[in-house]
Amino acid sequence: MQAIEIKNLSFVYSARTPNEKRALDDINLSVEEGSLVALVGATGSGKSTLIMHLNGLIKPQDKKRSSIVVHDMSASDKKALKKLRFEVGMVFQYPEYQLFADTVAKDIAFGPKNMKLSAEEVDARVRRAMQVVGLDYDEFAGRSPFDLSGGEKRRVAIAGVIAMQPKILVLDEPVAGLDPAGRKELLALIKTLQREISPTVVLVSHNMDDVARLADRVVALKDGRIVADGAPRDVFADRQLVKDIGLDVPFAARVVDNLEEKGISLDKHIITDEELYNALTDLFASAGKLKKPAPEEEFFDDEFFDDEEFFDDDSEEDEEEDIIKDDPEQECTVPEGACLEAEENDGSEKTKNRRKDMTSDKGPARARGEGGGNV
Ligand SMILES: Nc1ncnc2c1ncn2[C@@H]1O[C@H](COP(=O)(O)OP(=O)(O)OP(=O)(O)O)[C@@H](O)[C@H]1O
Ligand SMILES: [Mg+2]
Repeated sequence: MQAIEIKNLSFVYSARTPNEKRALDDINLSVEEGSLVALVGATGSGKSTLIMHLNGLIKPQDKKRSSIVVHDMSASDKKALKKLRFEVGMVFQYPEYQLFADTVAKDIAFGPKNMKLSAEEVDARVRRAMQVVGLDYDEFAGRSPFDLSGGEKRRVAIAGVIAMQPKILVLDEPVAGLDPAGRKELLALIKTLQREISPTVVLVSHNMDDVARLADRVVALKDGRIVADGAPRDVFADRQLVKDIGLDVPFAARVVDNLEEKGISLDKHIITDEELYNALTDLFASAGKLKKPAPEEEFFDDEFFDDEEFFDDDSEEDEEEDIIKDDPEQECTVPEGACLEAEENDGSEKTKNRRKDMTSDKGPARARGEGGGNV
């Protein structure tokens, strides 16, 4: 079943003025219930304009031609508007700027109160929302939202949206401005919210690693038009398309491309760190270069890959010496879809330099350390 159906949607800002700007140009998009769709595109491509149509904040300009239907409600129907706003929870960029009440509990209660729910139900929803976003009720309910940390404020703001228990959650760059730990927690939270509150999620993101890790589907906009739509691994595999859209590829795909330049071919569909690790481990194993057996797959959770040391230059060099020994005669047998050119005639120095190419200031590993991948 489709949660959202958009047909022939165009939008022009400041029409018939010198500042006229066509922000959306004939968008046709359906979002299946229960999916997590990432909306990506360069700055100014129309992402925010598009999502603001989903709960009626912006109305279709050409009502005859365009239609937006959300769970059988038309976004053009004035009578359905209120219900639509409860159905589609919208978390804007820097939502904490919209906090206003003198306590956390009152702020979160604002939406449910607007729904005319009983006091008991409002209280129950506040407690549940706080629990889901990981804010202890006894500790935070009575505090001023303005005295909280940035990450806590953002949780309060998100709790205020999910307390209305929207079936569709729309997040516009929800991790912007958070530190790496806060970012990681919030990304995990999005999955929890999808599982427990809002089965359908539309996530606007500039971070392709987040998209690769979270999304079932990626929809890319360019100049107000949809220019790519598909599973993240398929969209990112088309490097030229991604470049044309003005996007980056995930860290793992950048490593694949860097290795390709060095004559090592890995699958272009690799988009997550885990997939990259597994492909490299397979490669080393089949070349007889793996000293220790590869740990079981379940071992590799996000914690493991977010460990700074895993991508630390110095520790890598030491590790490198452990794993790869000089062996100019070594012939490589490689797994399907991968090819290692055994050209290491000058031993470990060259090997080290290769690895350094991947981890230099210009290289992908450092960019990733800062949560890289931004366009
Ligand atoms: N209120 C406005 N008045 C006039 N033009 C606007 C207005 N809001 C957005 N635009 C223009 O419409 C286009 C699409 O803007 P929009 O904010 O939807 O892009 P976006 O993809 O969300 O960008 P970003 O990634 O920077 O948030 C841009 O060219 C922008 O300059
Ligand atoms: Mg925007």
